[in-house]
Amino acid sequence: MKATKASNPVLRILRVDASGRVAGSSTRELTGRVVDALAATAPVSVTRRDVSRGIPFVDAAWIDAAYTPEDSRSDSQQAALSVSDALVREVQAADVLVIGVPTYNFGVPAALKAWVDMVARAGVTFRYTADGPVGLLAGKKAYLVVASGGVGMNSEIDFATPWLRHMLGFLGITDVEVIDATRQVAIGEAALENARSRIDELDFSRVPALRAAA
Ligand SMILES: Cc1cc2nc3c(=O)[nH]c(=O)nc-3n(C[C@H](O)[C@H](O)[C@H](O)COP(=O)(O)O)c2cc1C
Repeated sequence: MKATKASNPVLRILRVDASGRVAGSSTRELTGRVVDALAATAPVSVTRRDVSRGIPFVDAAWIDAAYTPEDSRSDSQQAALSVSDALVREVQAADVLVIGVPTYNFGVPAALKAWVDMVARAGVTFRYTADGPVGLLAGKKAYLVVASGGVGMNSEIDFATPWLRHMLGFLGITDVEVIDATRQVAIGEAALENARSRIDELDFSRVPALRAAA
């Protein structure tokens, strides 16, 4: 994980990339562009999480540990949650999430799903109440850069955007802006040009952490 710290950051950014490729990745280019645009607006600190490098899957040890009360966990149960704990802390510490979402087989890449599975923790990032589940990551802003070859954003075969939006909302992150870089094969370079223009026009004055600091 690379982290760039500003001396007095106003905005703590967590950038999550998921494309299996680095060279030529449109989502990496565009998440970088969002981060650069934010950095031109305010002092920022940037934490990068490249989930394509490997995120563990939920397994029996993880489930056993996650559903054992924190103060009763054995050393091995704590160890089973150590990566999940670190990923949760990264999200908790962020004011803004910038997430690159390539469409893989009509959904999100498996690595991004694995990251969500590590971050969604009962009692930590959401909890169940008599009125239903409550997300515990409120007050953050998320930018999603969604790319595809042919699947149109929010079309009936786009299972990536609505799912990730729902999942973030479940965790309390309801302020989500989606940048559309879909249909790159279908419409060619216009898909990227439109996404770059959209990023250049983003109004960051509505980012909660910046409003609070103003
Ligand atoms: C393994 C794989 C699966 C893909 N599945 C789909 C798909 O189901 N629908 C689609 O429209 N594009 C699909 N694509 C195209 C990608 O969404 C597209 O190339 C996107 O730009 C990838 O993001 P990137 O540029 O950051 O790598 C797939 C690409 C790969 C490599």
